[in-house]
Amino acid sequence: MDLKTKLEQLFEENHKQIGRTGDLDELNQIRVNLLGKKGPITEVLRGMKDLSADERPKVGAFANQIKSDLQDAIAARKAALEQAVIQKKLAQETIDVTLPGDQVIAGTPHILAQIMDDVETYFIGQGYQVIDGPEVEEDHYNFEMLNIPKDHPARDMQDTFYLDSQLLMRSQTSPVQARTMEIHDFTQGPLKMISPGRVYRRDTDDATHSHQFHQIEGLVIDKHITMADLKGTLLALAQHVFGADRQIRLRPSFFPFTEPSVEVDVSCFRCNGAGCPICKYSGWIEVLGAGMVHPNVLNAAGVDADAYGGFAFGLGPDRFAMLKYGIDDIRSFYQGDVRFLSQFQQEG
Ligand code: DAH
Repeated sequence: MDLKTKLEQLFEENHKQIGRTGDLDELNQIRVNLLGKKGPITEVLRGMKDLSADERPKVGAFANQIKSDLQDAIAARKAALEQAVIQKKLAQETIDVTLPGDQVIAGTPHILAQIMDDVETYFIGQGYQVIDGPEVEEDHYNFEMLNIPKDHPARDMQDTFYLDSQLLMRSQTSPVQARTMEIHDFTQGPLKMISPGRVYRRDTDDATHSHQFHQIEGLVIDKHITMADLKGTLLALAQHVFGADRQIRLRPSFFPFTEPSVEVDVSCFRCNGAGCPICKYSGWIEVLGAGMVHPNVLNAAGVDADAYGGFAFGLGPDRFAMLKYGIDDIRSFYQGDVRFLSQFQQEG
């Protein structure tokens, strides 16, 4: 067989094989075998030395042509196979955007946290500072500094968890006012603060009592503060929490740390005063305690009671939430039942 026929045969066979292969590795193997130093084309070219001077360039040119045609065929096949790999991958990775999504169950802040956040944000807007205090408190701050000496009957109002003779679980957030007054520099301006947090009492848990609950203490100390300031502050707060049409009324009461002391009622947000089960047909609902800070409390904290005065109030977020949402069992706030808690999804 002459060299030209050999080359033609080589081309035929390999060209077909290249076209048939469906695998990049196999194609690479064909290329190495065919075009490598020990491959059949090199073999044919080696036999050219036996050709006449006349034939050699013609066969040489033909051989190069065959070689480059086969190279082109390999390159074309390679491109096609690579493309196929990409297409396959794309097809596998296709995302069906019409499929329904997985529902993400989002949590929500606890209803008491929502109420407290709202009251805090409200008072921050009025220029108050929010101040934390310890839950494990000294008798000194929880009682003595608030005009409740040992053996004073007022201690019976708050049945307290004692840790030892000096330490207790705070029974109210009022100690934070004593702590803050003590360190406040009045030459820098008045004191306006609220203190939200947990308090503890030795109560037997039932629908309306819990051995732990929450309070938000409020305190304003400056020169020339009057009861009218207290009333205006509480009216605006009641309207913020319970609705713009609310009214408040103050009833005389007693707290050792305030004089005079008042109990504050808000006009019923359900019946607007007409009488309904929520307000027990009185038209009014008791919401918090307040009063003008007792001079003994000011003096104990080192504040000159002749020059300064102010008001304080203490409200219960648990009670606010129960009233606002018609919750009839305070224990619901502390049992962590998601079926209860998830009813209070935060808006927005
Ligand atoms: N600490 C009081 C309580 O637990 C609530 C209270 C009433 C706080 C009147 C005050 C206040 O600051 O002025 O019953």
